[in-house]
Amino acid sequence: MNNYKRTTITAALPYANGPVHIGHLAGVYIPADIYARYLRLKGEDVIFICGSDEHGVPVTVRARKEGITPQDVVDRYHNIIKKSFEGFGISFDIYSRTTSKQHAKTASDFFRKLYENGKFIEQESEQYYDEVAGQFLSDRYIMGECPRCHAQGAYGDQCEHCGSTLSPDELINPVSKLSGAQPVKRRTKHWYLPLDQHESWLRHWILDEHTEWKTNVYGQCKSWLDTGLQPRAVTRDLDWGIPVPVEGADGKVLYVWFDAPIGYISNTQELCAAYPDRFGSWEQWWQSPDTRLVHFIGKDNIVFHCIVFPAMLKAEGSYILPDNVPANEFLNLEGNKISTSKNWAVWLNEYLEDFPGQQDVLRYTLTANAPETKDNDFTWRDFQARNNNELVAVLGNFVNRALVLTHKYFGGRVPTAGALTEQDQAVLDEMAQTRRNVEQYLDVFRFRDAQKEAMNLARLGNKYLADTEPWKLAKTDLERTATILNLSLQISANLAIVFQPFLPFSAKKLQDMLQLQTCNWNDLGRADLLSEGHRIGQAELLFSKIDDQPIEQQIKRLEDIKKANEMEAYQPEPIKAATDIEQFDKVDIRVGTVLECQKVPKADKLLQFKLDDGMGGRTILSGIAKSYPEPEKLVGMQVIFIANFPPRKLRGIESEGMILSAVNADGQLVLVQPSKPVKPGSQVG
Ligand code: 2FM
Ligand code: ZN
Repeated sequence: MNNYKRTTITAALPYANGPVHIGHLAGVYIPADIYARYLRLKGEDVIFICGSDEHGVPVTVRARKEGITPQDVVDRYHNIIKKSFEGFGISFDIYSRTTSKQHAKTASDFFRKLYENGKFIEQESEQYYDEVAGQFLSDRYIMGECPRCHAQGAYGDQCEHCGSTLSPDELINPVSKLSGAQPVKRRTKHWYLPLDQHESWLRHWILDEHTEWKTNVYGQCKSWLDTGLQPRAVTRDLDWGIPVPVEGADGKVLYVWFDAPIGYISNTQELCAAYPDRFGSWEQWWQSPDTRLVHFIGKDNIVFHCIVFPAMLKAEGSYILPDNVPANEFLNLEGNKISTSKNWAVWLNEYLEDFPGQQDVLRYTLTANAPETKDNDFTWRDFQARNNNELVAVLGNFVNRALVLTHKYFGGRVPTAGALTEQDQAVLDEMAQTRRNVEQYLDVFRFRDAQKEAMNLARLGNKYLADTEPWKLAKTDLERTATILNLSLQISANLAIVFQPFLPFSAKKLQDMLQLQTCNWNDLGRADLLSEGHRIGQAELLFSKIDDQPIEQQIKRLEDIKKANEMEAYQPEPIKAATDIEQFDKVDIRVGTVLECQKVPKADKLLQFKLDDGMGGRTILSGIAKSYPEPEKLVGMQVIFIANFPPRKLRGIESEGMILSAVNADGQLVLVQPSKPVKPGSQVG
């Protein structure tokens, strides 16, 4: 690793067919940003590349649904996504897009070179075609009955009900998701990357030469390789994408997963062309053997970045291969999988509006909880606790006390340190370890442990102040107070450096408060970052407490979404076997008015109703107590009941009939009532 001269860092290009959410941030963009900032702070040569992934079928589907063009869709989301990343301080050197001219040229040239050098195989096959929508259907857009478990709604590539991997041909009664029509088979020609021919070098390169890759990444690659690689089509029949640049390919575009990773290269070209003095030639970032290439991605992208894209790069012949692909697992939200279609997400654009100026709180929480080795959960309560108990109570509190006391007792100038006690020396020794402690984790992409180590420095400072209590000492021993505050300010300056990659907004604010001129990673651990007599700026709060109200509001929003989703997913019970009017006529259904209603002692489900039934009154027991915790409120309401069931005893009380209710989406029983008041005893029929 030390032999490298520069690092090309890429972050997965997000699809421009929806906004980005906390899962994206936690899994890909924050780790990538921490890493890029860390290397830059160390003075290394770094380029940090991203952009929107703007091709693919989902964009066309959304456009059709909204009656706009695919370009309108990607324009809208590209801007929203770009702004969200800027809002969170993700320090890309470029955030471009795969609809750029540069990208069309680079991706076409790349394809043509492979084509001309015989790196593809051409093959005709029969594929499903939707005659109503006028297009071929990708696997996800064909639905039908699962051949294994017979559930409806299985996709052409997978049944989500039983988890089986499928091919579209296996589906029973396939229909097009686009138009609902029954698709037909049509012959079509495509170009395939023969991954099987790449298998042997890929095996050696990953399984022998990259044993240091994260176990989740290595494991997934091994499983793909062990299963055996198959040729993969790199073209599609679609009218949205980069046209296949060879003869006889009318109406065909490059497969989105072929063009998207080339986007990393095109975006680098665009950047280097715009700032040649700063970034030099694009080739050095992609073709020079002394450049290290690192791809930050989520786990669903592993095969593309570890197998398919490397095979493309190797086939092209002039590129370096990734040195590491630190993919993360997924982040869940309040115990459930994040889902764009179900709106089960915290959208970054909305967070920025709801919590203005608090980007670092989310950055901190997402890193502290990063799904590095397994899927993890984000909860709003944890977010609140991390802010209040860690950022406010530890980091913010320590720094604030150091600065405020310096202003109070030394006029805002760094006081002179006198002779050091053993305790002082122990604190300085520990601080001297910070760089090593944090680096050991950053260098192997363990960002949550790295951030924990950074926070430990703030804990050390906090404890030092709590143990030495300079606010008391100041009255009797100003010299000792000076030493303690000098050390505390040095710790604060170290915090301003070590938190730059993690909490860039707050670290910069701290740097400004301390009037610290330079911020170099290599200075970490030093106890002379602020010279004696140096004037510090005013103390401002780095973080502020988040109280219950905004948290509860967020939780409520999610609860509402969950309810709405349950409503949508609600499937009515199947219709019972046929009956007739004679059977129905035998049941005597009436309207009654509730005179009294109370819980039945020792029966948690039962309510005892006294009804005015127009015939002298009757008692009916009903098992709806859980849905009506305040039964007395039902008095006066009209209900529908069956009047001619034989009486039966429940808990020693005789029940004379049955009150009708329905079940709503969250399983609550809801009493049925007439839409206008009617006379008690009226018949229903
Ligand atoms: O999974 C995704 O969001 C893809 N758009 C990632 C593409 S990464 C790269 F190859 F561009
Ligand atoms: Zn199934």
